[in-house]
Amino acid sequence: MAESKKYDRVAIVTGGASGIGFVLARAMAENRYAVVIADMQNAESSAEKLRRDGLSAVGVKADVTSVEDTTNMVEFAVKTFGGLDVLVNNAGIFTSLTLKPFDQISPAEWMKVMEVNTLGPFLCVKAAVPSMRARGAGRVVNIASTSQLKGAPYMLHYTSSKGAVVAFTRSLARELGSDGITVNSIAPGFTLSDGVLATGMEEKMGDVVRRTSRSIQRDQVPADLVGALLFFSGHGSAFITGQTLAVDGGSVFL
Ligand SMILES: NC(=O)c1ccc[n+]([C@@H]2O[C@H](COP(=O)([O-])OP(=O)(O)OC[C@H]3O[C@@H](n4cnc5c(N)ncnc54)[C@H](O)[C@@H]3O)[C@@H](O)[C@H]2O)c1
Repeated sequence: MAESKKYDRVAIVTGGASGIGFVLARAMAENRYAVVIADMQNAESSAEKLRRDGLSAVGVKADVTSVEDTTNMVEFAVKTFGGLDVLVNNAGIFTSLTLKPFDQISPAEWMKVMEVNTLGPFLCVKAAVPSMRARGAGRVVNIASTSQLKGAPYMLHYTSSKGAVVAFTRSLARELGSDGITVNSIAPGFTLSDGVLATGMEEKMGDVVRRTSRSIQRDQVPADLVGALLFFSGHGSAFITGQTLAVDGGSVFL
């Protein structure tokens, strides 16, 4: 007897090789998505980890700030799995940031953060929407941040870039509604991702975040974002677009 198909829908997760992105990629694969992990590094080795667990995943090396790479990423997804249903714009500069007062941020640092965090989602959407339009359906889920909702010191370039992601979500939703494509954002609070743990950010920020602002006073982990992602990716959210959902233990109330 022929082996039955292991997936129902196809998703690309940018920055999916590690951190929050990898946890989201695994969760989607465990929920009958074929997943394309798109990352500048370790994309294929991360996909291999999912395949070893019997899941459908492939990796593609892609820098989200490159037109060529983002075009190739979508072509690869369509060629490999036959279409594209969900784009998760997760790749971003956060854990490599040096926290500093605004007047010490150089124009080059500002531009780099803007390039990855705002040009990146724009190029990915430009590449992905034609395939979604062809199907008359699609889901774009952007990873924003509650830092831009609350205001956060010493990362003005970052919070500004994530504010742009929310504006991008709202305006793009207006353009794509008639194509059956929804565009929503998830705004995580401070999350113990691989990058946060590796860079010592947790020691600097974790306790303050927990004690001063969360209703639910525990660490946030990448798995806390899975429910929101599956909701925005699935059929149950078909009439919800342009929204930003804070997933942060009850810190920001929208
Ligand atoms: N960790 C947090 O506290 C937190 C909170 C709110 C929002 N976020 C957002 O969540 C997302 C993931 O954060 P994380 O903590 O997992 O970060 P991370 O640094 O642990 O992982 C980021 C991943 O993105 C990839 N990446 C970076 N630049 C890329 C590019 N130009 N093209 C392709 N891939 C690229 C990296 O290789 C890495 O795999 C980011 O958008 C971040 O801004 C994180």
